[in-house]
Amino acid sequence: MDSASTISQDSSITARYRSGARPSARELRRIDRHLVSLVAPDSFEAEQYRRLRHVIEELRTGTGGSVAAVSSPIAGDGKSVTSINLAGALAQDRFAKVCMIDCDLRRHSTSLCQSFDSRFSDAQGLTDVVINRAISLDNVLVQLPAFNLAIIPTGQHQIGPYEVLRSRRFSEIVQEARRRFDYIIVDTPPIVALSDCKLIEKWVDGFVLVVAAHHTPRRFLKEALAALDRRKLLGVVFNCSDQVSARYYGYEHYYGGKGRGRRSAPGVTGWRAPNAAPSDR
Ligand SMILES: Nc1ncnc2c1ncn2[C@@H]1O[C@H](COP(=O)(O)OP(=O)(O)OP(=O)(O)O)[C@@H](O)[C@H]1O
Ligand SMILES: [Mg+2]
Repeated sequence: MDSASTISQDSSITARYRSGARPSARELRRIDRHLVSLVAPDSFEAEQYRRLRHVIEELRTGTGGSVAAVSSPIAGDGKSVTSINLAGALAQDRFAKVCMIDCDLRRHSTSLCQSFDSRFSDAQGLTDVVINRAISLDNVLVQLPAFNLAIIPTGQHQIGPYEVLRSRRFSEIVQEARRRFDYIIVDTPPIVALSDCKLIEKWVDGFVLVVAAHHTPRRFLKEALAALDRRKLLGVVFNCSDQVSARYYGYEHYYGGKGRGRRSAPGVTGWRAPNAAPSDR
């Protein structure tokens, strides 16, 4: 990993975060366009992630909690897109210190991250820290100063997710991140049929559950809700919902223009409070 990207002290984090660096137009063009909080912060879609940001900020104000996991019932519901957009929305406050931890050791979000930084392809991360005590958090944090964001990738070392997530070292890393960052967003694997989220649950202050329109079967949503500690459920994100229309709110659609592109655009993210009735498929 590029050593210039690593940091060694809290004070240097602060210095870089406040440096006011902005992404160049070339950098922005490379980024996956689903990451609207980063590439199009003024868009209607990005506004939806700011609504979610508000929920996380309220968690911090109300309870002091700063660690929120993003999960979903099954694969492909939009956990990684939601995680990065949420972290990006929080990081729009240039004074907030925001970190995202990729805890989906089965299907990491490298391809999304790689679109904005090629260092992710061979970056050390969580598994390396867990397996080797000589590797510190500083060694694996990938700093993206232009986005005011730090990311801990999954890592290069192949080790079973269960072993990583139950390890003492993992808990130490989360605790250290807590001390150093204002907000930590944790991208997770799906809940149904895997034990990972039960292990992650212990270390986070809240869960955001992502449900994708026309994708997540209702029975799996019920299973996921039953598996979670409901006291930690912050809310449910209805991803790719076509019920929230940008035009309705007087916004021009970011990708769409007139008629075209609505299908290829990232769906807007609807937000419902915890215990809202699950939607039908
Ligand atoms: N709001 C959205 N609008 C349009 N496409 C989206 C949206 N959210 C996610 N997608 C697309 O859906 C696919 C799955 O998204 P993502 O990788 O975030 O899901 P995931 O739940 O993290 O999947 P996995 O369980 O495999 O890690 C991707 O191709 C992504 O670009
Ligand atoms: Mg994912």
